[in-house]
Amino acid sequence: MTTLHAPSTSRDLYDDATLTDPYSAYAELRGAGSAVYLERHGVYALPRYAEVRRALGDWETFSSAAGVSIAPQFDRLYAGSVIASDPPEHDVLRSVLAERLAPRALRPLRADIEARADALVAEVVARGSFDAVADLAQVFPVSVVADLVGVPQEGRERFLDRANRNFNLFGPANERALDSLGVHDESLAYVREHATRDRLAPGSFGATVYEAIDAGIVSERQGLRLLMTYLFAGMDTTINAIGHAIWLFARQPEQWRALRADPSLVGPAFEEVLRLESPVQGFARTVRRDVAFDDARVPEGARVLLLYGSANRDERRWADADRFDIRRDASGHVAFGYGVHGCAGQGLARIEAHAILSALARRVESFECGTPQRRLNNAVRGLAALPTTVVPAA
Ligand code: HEM
Repeated sequence: MTTLHAPSTSRDLYDDATLTDPYSAYAELRGAGSAVYLERHGVYALPRYAEVRRALGDWETFSSAAGVSIAPQFDRLYAGSVIASDPPEHDVLRSVLAERLAPRALRPLRADIEARADALVAEVVARGSFDAVADLAQVFPVSVVADLVGVPQEGRERFLDRANRNFNLFGPANERALDSLGVHDESLAYVREHATRDRLAPGSFGATVYEAIDAGIVSERQGLRLLMTYLFAGMDTTINAIGHAIWLFARQPEQWRALRADPSLVGPAFEEVLRLESPVQGFARTVRRDVAFDDARVPEGARVLLLYGSANRDERRWADADRFDIRRDASGHVAFGYGVHGCAGQGLARIEAHAILSALARRVESFECGTPQRRLNNAVRGLAALPTTVVPAA
C-alpha cells in the first residue's frame, strides 16, 4: 500500500515493548503529523487530540459499521453489534439498555455499590498486604456488572480471561489476537447457555434485553450480542482503571495525601487517571470519503486508528501532559470515547471507581506498591498484578 498523503512509520505499535510503554511511540507519532500511516498494520493512526475528537464527533465520515478492529479479518466477529454499527441501526441497539444506564436509573444503585466497595476494601486493608489487581480491582467490577446483567454465579470464573482476550481482537492479527480468536465464539456460547431467559435475575439488564427481543425491537441474535457486549465491556476497562489509579497514587504519595485531605477530589482524580492511563488505548473507524487534515490526507475506504491513549497525552491539549495531577481539569478526555459511541457504561464505571477510591481514602493512610506486572493486550492497557502494602488510617 502506498502512503502519498501522510507521513508513515514502520513501527509496530503492538510489540511487547511498545505495549509495555507506548508513550514515547505516541509522542513520536504526534510529532510526525495529525495522521500517520502505520505500514505494518495498513491503517492510519490519529495520534493527536483534535483529530481524534473530530473523528468521534463525525460518525458519518468516520464509520464504525465495518468494524472497530484494525484488522479487517476480525470484522465479522462484531458485525452489527452496538459498537460496530452506525445510526440508525446503532441507535436501536443502544436504546435497549440506555435507560437502565442513565444517571436517574443509576442513582438508586449507588448506596449498594458503595457499601460493597467499602466491605471489600475493609477486608483487604485488614490483611495489610494484598494484590491490588487480583484482590481488589478484578473482584469488584466482575461482581457488580454480572449482578446487574443478572447472570448466574456459574461460569463467572471465566469472565476475566474471556473479557480480556476478546479485547485482543480489536488490534492487528498478531499472535496475541490469533491466540484469542476462539474466545469470541466461546463467549457467545456462554451467553447462549447461561444468560437464558429463565436463568437471568428478574428486573436485571438481561431481563430488559429479553423484553426488547419479545417486543421485536431487536432480534434474538442482536440481543445475545448486546448481553455479551455489556458483560465484557464493563470488566477489563474498569478493572484497569482501578488498578492504574492505585499504581499512580503509589508513585505520587503527595497526590494520595491531597485526596485524603479533600475527598471531593475523587471525581477529578478518577478523570485524571483515565486521561493518563486510558484503559482503552484505541478503536478504529473506516473513512467514508477522502479526509483532509492540516498536514495529511486519508483516502476514502482507509481504516483509521483513533489513539485515545495518545490524544489524552497530547501536549497541544494538556499542559504538562505526562504529569499525574488530580487537581487539573481532565474533563474532555477521550478515554470513554465521545459522540454516538461514547461509552454507554461511563456513569456506572464512575460510581464503581469513586466507591473504591473513596473507601481506600477513608481506610488507608498511606501505601506502597511493589513492581507491577503488566497484562499486555492489543486494545486495553492494564496490570496483571500489583503487590500492595498499606498503613491503615487511624
Ligand atoms: C473505566 C471504564 C470504562 C472505559 C474506560 C470504557 C471505555 C469505552 C470506550 C473508549 C468506548 C467507545 C467505543 C468507540 O469509540 O467505538 C466504550 C463504549 C462502550 N462501553 Fe465502555 N468503558 C468503560 C466501562 C464500561 C462499563 C462499566 C460498561 C457497561 C456495563 C461499558 C459498556 C460500553 C458499551 C456497551 C459501549 C459501546 C457503546 C456504543 O458503541 O454505542 N463500558 N467504552
